[in-house]
Amino acid sequence: MISYPRAELADHLIPALQGRAGFSDAHNGLFLAAPRRTGKSTFLQRDLRPALERAGVVVVYVDLWADTARDPGALIAAAIGAALQPQLGAVAQAVKKAGVEKIKVAGWLEIDTSRIGRIDGLTLVDALRALHETAGRPVALIVDEAQHALTSEAGENAMSALKSARDQMNGGGEVNLMLVMSGSDRDKLLRLVNTAAAPFYGSQIQRMPPLGSDFIAYVAELIARQRPELRPVDTATLEAAFEAFGNRPQFFMEALGQVLSPLADLEGRFEPAVLAAAKQRQQDDEAQTESEYLALKPLEQAVLWRMLEQGPRFRPYDAETLKFYRAPTGGPVTAQRAQAALEALRQRTPPLVWKSARGEYALEDAAMHRWFEQRTADGRWPPQDPQHELDFAGGKPPDAPT
Ligand SMILES: Nc1ncnc2c1ncn2[C@@H]1O[C@H](COP(=O)(O)OP(=O)(O)OP(=O)(O)O)[C@@H](O)[C@H]1O
Ligand SMILES: [Mg+2]
Repeated sequence: MISYPRAELADHLIPALQGRAGFSDAHNGLFLAAPRRTGKSTFLQRDLRPALERAGVVVVYVDLWADTARDPGALIAAAIGAALQPQLGAVAQAVKKAGVEKIKVAGWLEIDTSRIGRIDGLTLVDALRALHETAGRPVALIVDEAQHALTSEAGENAMSALKSARDQMNGGGEVNLMLVMSGSDRDKLLRLVNTAAAPFYGSQIQRMPPLGSDFIAYVAELIARQRPELRPVDTATLEAAFEAFGNRPQFFMEALGQVLSPLADLEGRFEPAVLAAAKQRQQDDEAQTESEYLALKPLEQAVLWRMLEQGPRFRPYDAETLKFYRAPTGGPVTAQRAQAALEALRQRTPPLVWKSARGEYALEDAAMHRWFEQRTADGRWPPQDPQHELDFAGGKPPDAPT
């Protein structure tokens, strides 16, 4: 498997997180959004984490999707506990053996030795402070898929606790707690920062730069080295293919592997074949989304349509929205029915709709917005069920029994 290192991007973020970059607000929290499968987790774990460690920072990484059944606060606590354990190290082990029930950490914090590593008895603020003080170094907490915290009250509380820890630990111009939050949907991540009641009000969401031409140059170089007969590699076509794959390295590498395989019976160059695979994938993805949409009940379609059209302004039951639902469903729609439809969209596997603890709704997959915009721009909205069109024409569907 090929992994392209992104040390430069990571190194670039460090001074900002440390509060040493003039006009950056990252020391108050760095919020990074990028679409699904574009390499967020890989970057955070393989590039940002080691870069922070090189800069003398203790890093705690937690992925809130790792176990969606568990309370995000507990997941964060467990990750901090795991980082705290080696710091307490020998002392803790010794007292544990001696049967001592509590130890004092950093001169102020009493920890129940039976609970080290499971700091559920501790507040997140205390745990982070203990980690900072026992390590004697700044702490960075990286929360992957942070928007998931907003789906439960416990998660919201954890986010407020993190904000409070930040405010307590970063007083006096020193940055002792760096927070990095990532997510695959900008709109959902926005809810952490965009209202006065949001825990990180005032922070900005940044787009994590997608892999681009430097990644393609790296891959092309590898190909040229391993298969000299393929030189020169047409990087422009590969770049176009990568973009058509939505900057998702997994699909790109898979297609590349197929056309470069000794078993591939390929006529001509491999680059156009990768591009063709990317275009095919785009079409397949679109067809899949379309058939999913068409399989929904009319009211569910109408609700989804309204969400696609309104984006973050979506209000499920206001008068105008209820009026909107009428046309595609052919009759009046009550708020109760609309709510039932929203729930149905949320309960599907995989879910189409996401709901925050405050009852705000958003689409689960931001890629649907692109699909909608593309179709609207091409005048192909709403999607038509081919079966229905035939019905309208008065004829029988081709596969109907005679
Ligand atoms: N720098 C890279 N070089 C090569 N491949 C990469 C790189 N970054 C990510 N990938 C590949 O892309 C795929 C997705 O990566 P990753 O899981 O990091 O993305 P993600 O954005 O966190 O995805 P998700 O939205 O599912 O959480 C993986 O198969 C990974 O191996
Ligand atoms: Mg991820």
